[in-house]
Amino acid sequence: MWKNFPLFPEQASTLASKVDALYFTFLGISTFFGLLVAGLVIYFAIRFRRRSPEEIGRPEKAGLWMEVTWSVIPLIILLGMFAWGAKVFVEAFRPPGNAVEYFVTAKQWMWKFQHPQGNREINDFHVPLGQPIRLTMTSEDVIHSFFVPAFRVKADVLPGRYTTVWFEANKTGTFHIFCAEYCGAEHSMMRGSIIIMEPADYELWLAGRESGPSVVASGEELFQVKACNTCHRSDSATLAPILHGAFGEPVELADGSVQVVDENYIRESIMNPAAKLVKGYKPLMPTYQGQITEDEVIQLIGYIKSLASDATEEEATLPALPDEG
Ligand code: CUA
Repeated sequence: MWKNFPLFPEQASTLASKVDALYFTFLGISTFFGLLVAGLVIYFAIRFRRRSPEEIGRPEKAGLWMEVTWSVIPLIILLGMFAWGAKVFVEAFRPPGNAVEYFVTAKQWMWKFQHPQGNREINDFHVPLGQPIRLTMTSEDVIHSFFVPAFRVKADVLPGRYTTVWFEANKTGTFHIFCAEYCGAEHSMMRGSIIIMEPADYELWLAGRESGPSVVASGEELFQVKACNTCHRSDSATLAPILHGAFGEPVELADGSVQVVDENYIRESIMNPAAKLVKGYKPLMPTYQGQITEDEVIQLIGYIKSLASDATEEEATLPALPDEG
């Protein structure tokens, strides 16, 4: 019976036990001090009550040692809690270098997933066990929030911007995906399932499905179709910045500031090219706002990322991700 009324979600990712240890320790510390303070309030109220109508309170002086003790001990405990919390937070939001990138597009009211190999899914999401997976997420309309309780993973999914989360599943099975941000009439129906498979089973699953071209290959094709290649090619560097090797590197902008070429900068440059012009270039590029879907932008970014290194054919299909650190 209790199986159907779980008090706490399963621990299905490498992060889950760390988040839970932190959570339960904080809960324990808070409970201890909460009860201590409440208990002392009740005890003192009885112990020092007024015993006759004439009695007048007189000031008590606490010794210096007492003041110091009850300031320093909580300070040490709180700084310890902060340091521990910060460590888990950084771990939760910094994907490891070997994480494989998958893409998530949210819209009212569904979750769309794209595998680096090109497979697409809606609401169901198959991923291999024991592999760090980084999700690059955006929304086609309003703010959603990607929440997988069993992984202790939650992040807002915003229109016009990319956010990332990562996880590494440590058990096979099917786990809930929820939208955790009210996003309209069918918000509560915006659910999905994440299916964790043994790596061999995952390969079989991939092989058994109709797969489109990989993200990088789709991006490369779009690069031609949308005529990006007319200006952004290595022999026309006078018209537009060359994109080979650009991803992850800093560029100097026209106003003298420095911008690292990341997903959000590329997206902005496609939608609003004049916003952050690279120094030495004229604002020649037209906007692609309204002419390109979020999925297509993701594919273009995937392709531009693959140009970052002298990737071999295999690496180009499954781009190795730079550590964000
Ligand atoms: Cu999407 Cu709530």
